[in-house]
Amino acid sequence: MTLKFADRHLLDNLDALARIGAIEGGGCARLALTDEDRLGRDLVVGWMKELDLDVRVDAIGNVIGLRAGRENLPPIMTGSHIDTVRTGGRYDGNYGVLAGLEVVRALNAANVVTRRPVAVAFFTNEEGARFQPDMMGSLVYAGGLGLNEAYAAVDQDGVAAGDALRRIGYLGATMPGALKPHAFLELHIEQGPILDEEKVRIGVVESVQGISWTEYTVTGVSNHAGTTPMRLRRDAGYLAASVNLFVRKLAWDMGGNQVATVGSLALRPNLINVVPNRAVFTVDLRNTDEAKLKEAEAAVAAHIADVAAAERVEVKSKVLARFEPVIFDASLVDRVEHHAMALSLSTRRMPSGAGHDAQMMQRLCPTAMIFVPSVAGLSHNVKEHTEPADLIAGAQVLLNLMVELAES
Ligand code: GLV
Ligand code: MN
Ligand code: MN
Repeated sequence: MTLKFADRHLLDNLDALARIGAIEGGGCARLALTDEDRLGRDLVVGWMKELDLDVRVDAIGNVIGLRAGRENLPPIMTGSHIDTVRTGGRYDGNYGVLAGLEVVRALNAANVVTRRPVAVAFFTNEEGARFQPDMMGSLVYAGGLGLNEAYAAVDQDGVAAGDALRRIGYLGATMPGALKPHAFLELHIEQGPILDEEKVRIGVVESVQGISWTEYTVTGVSNHAGTTPMRLRRDAGYLAASVNLFVRKLAWDMGGNQVATVGSLALRPNLINVVPNRAVFTVDLRNTDEAKLKEAEAAVAAHIADVAAAERVEVKSKVLARFEPVIFDASLVDRVEHHAMALSLSTRRMPSGAGHDAQMMQRLCPTAMIFVPSVAGLSHNVKEHTEPADLIAGAQVLLNLMVELAES
């Protein structure tokens, strides 16, 4: 069975969703469990209902739209997330969810009832930009994090995720994970430069690299910037700066897939003429190889211990997220490649540099991902862009594979 969907719907819906929380430069700010997230959710739920999906909201706010099959079997599920980072683009996550709706629209238009049910999901707080860990909704769904632990995560203003979820009206009744899929597929933009640089249309994603997120709180002593001799300083900001330089060099020296980022840094009192007595900063380390990721973590810890001793500052650390690399289901990955090739689209096998809900779903059922190019490799940036022809091509691969699996 070959189905084709109405291209325009996908592009128009991406535009409509991007208008919610729109920010300067063409991007989106829909941090998880904010009013903007609620408005985005309401819009997508409305679309799900228009498509006659049976919409269920679970206790961590994941939303699943179910389309019945000829038999009452576990569904073929697709989906992603619609929350964004504060300076996000319009495709990260949103594309996979809205393309999933187009799969349903194509099935509806062709009056096809597949053997297995088909489900389209969006998961809560994939980004982890406001509440940690990232991939929170899918992690709870897969049984990797308890509901109460997830509810207790607090943002920088001390707001608990559970309270924020209740406030936006998405603390649902069903148990996360109650619906166990037969297979899960996530269509996503690459968010990196490889496909664009190599002019390849479809990324066949074999794995997701491991992620290590740690927050450090450094306590030193505030003092006068003009009168305090360098030998007497206990500068919390100095340690933070040294870690930023250290992890850059570490990633270069390790090579391979090692990446390292200090993405958040706050100094106190944050004044030009005062030695900072407090620094709070984060380190994001990622590698496709778990042993190398552990090596990087150990090197950072040793560096921090050395500098803390020399500077006589105190350091407390808190792990915000730690996920090992994930390998997707080999035969499903082959089917992604098969369907892309059948559409005469060029392909490339690759790992994912970013975290995704699919990496959690792989704990539950055979899972795979489909990537499309990101122009200039930009993501978590308002200029994030994917050409319409690539958005359509990726969605067609998803549609063809969903139909095959739903009939299997
Ligand atoms: C999630 O988008 C991440 O990979 O940081
Ligand atoms: Mn994403
Ligand atoms: Mn993201």
